[in-house]
Amino acid sequence: MADAKIIDGKAFAAGLRARVADGVAALKASHGVTPGLAVVLVGEDPASQVYVRSKERALVELGMNSFDHHEPADMAESDLLALIDRLNADPAVHGILVQLPLPKHIDSQKVLARIVPEKDADGFHVVNAGLLATGQPGAIVPCTPLGSLLLIRDTLGRDLKGKRALVLGRSNIVGKPMAQLLLQADCTVTMAHSRTADLPEECRRADILVAAVGRPEMVRGDWIKPGATVIDVGINRVAAAEPGKTRLVGDVAFDEAVKVAGAITPVPGGVGPMTIACLMLNTLAAACRAAG
Ligand code: GUN
Repeated sequence: MADAKIIDGKAFAAGLRARVADGVAALKASHGVTPGLAVVLVGEDPASQVYVRSKERALVELGMNSFDHHEPADMAESDLLALIDRLNADPAVHGILVQLPLPKHIDSQKVLARIVPEKDADGFHVVNAGLLATGQPGAIVPCTPLGSLLLIRDTLGRDLKGKRALVLGRSNIVGKPMAQLLLQADCTVTMAHSRTADLPEECRRADILVAAVGRPEMVRGDWIKPGATVIDVGINRVAAAEPGKTRLVGDVAFDEAVKVAGAITPVPGGVGPMTIACLMLNTLAAACRAAG
């Protein structure tokens, strides 16, 4: 069998970003409104700093305002809640993103719940999660699952009816909303996780496999149904063959999976760029709704 098609998330994300930039320009011209996202980072976690910087760069590139709030790791929870209150009330701020994880002394759920749902650019607020779960319009959808769905549709076409989808990982950020989106697309959805019995066999039934467990190369080639579409959400840094060097790998053993799958996202260059592009899209959409 020929090797799988490599799903080029970087190229798709570049196209999406260009369309968002057009939308930003149109909103400025029609309503005089520049979409703005407040990015809140508490502490100095190196991975979070990298993510936050790339979000801020993307905002500026697309003509949006980036309101950066980089706060010390020992910031009091009450001060963070007060900052959220100010951002909620600021009409120039259309979206608010609080980078996770937060330091241990801060209750993340309390902070996320403080963001007004209309400005919840990440789609993590319980109101947005509830709107998505109940299939109601107006939900802001979390960026990584939304980006993954766009890649699945670009690969398989819009009609996913009756496909067997397996989501590996049950996080609030990726696994649960991903399963909701696939369910809404009329897939037959299985949610699997670290405690699932006979995980390889469950995976082998899936026409669409989304791996989001954060375990380097956990999904092996012989877990994959021949011809399946494989979306690898994992971004794991592991030791490279060369001493002292590291490399990024996904949750799927790519070199094995590429020989079995019909289509597969690489790491890096697959889902990762889609997450940021969808954050830009969510911010533009929030600004459009605020502008009326
Ligand atoms: N930490 C890891 N992924 C994400 C994300 O998508 N949004 C935020 N805010 N924090 C994260």
